[in-house]
Amino acid sequence: MMTKLFFLISIILQLISFSSQSENQKPPTAVQAELTNYGFPIGLLPSSVKKLTLNQTSGEFSVDLRGACQITLPPDNYLATYSKRISGKIVKGRIAELDGIRVRALFQWWSITGIRSSGDNLVFEVGMVTAKYPSKNFDESPKCEGRHSSS
Ligand SMILES: *[C@@H]1O[C@H](CO)[C@@H](O)[C@H](O)[C@H]1NC(C)=O
Repeated sequence: MMTKLFFLISIILQLISFSSQSENQKPPTAVQAELTNYGFPIGLLPSSVKKLTLNQTSGEFSVDLRGACQITLPPDNYLATYSKRISGKIVKGRIAELDGIRVRALFQWWSITGIRSSGDNLVFEVGMVTAKYPSKNFDESPKCEGRHSSS
């Protein structure tokens, strides 16, 4: 009985690791690779990302999505909206002067003004207020939801 159970569990574990492997096998896009170079996980941007313009001297960037986009962010299921164009200034481990990402919390929309990455954690800045989340929650690019999706 115990061995059967153990057998079943090990099969389930194999299935889980197999499915997560095939997720990871998707090759990163150029934009995702650039995010990773700067120490950020690819899941910060939705999969509908189209183009990145980056001035490597000043760090000024803009990201074009296929359209405005709505996403539910892990792990607390905050609703977030992404404008069709997101801009800011990026250096390794830090995005500042961010414009174009808003999060709904405490019955209000808040603009995320900056994001810091310390490897294991991401710190989101909303003005003077910060919120810290494990980076591993952002390992995959989320898909846009609902009628805001592609186009
Ligand atoms: C990039 O930024 C530098 C420093 O701010 C500036 O001198 C240069 O003109 C910018 N390049 C482009 C292509 O905008």
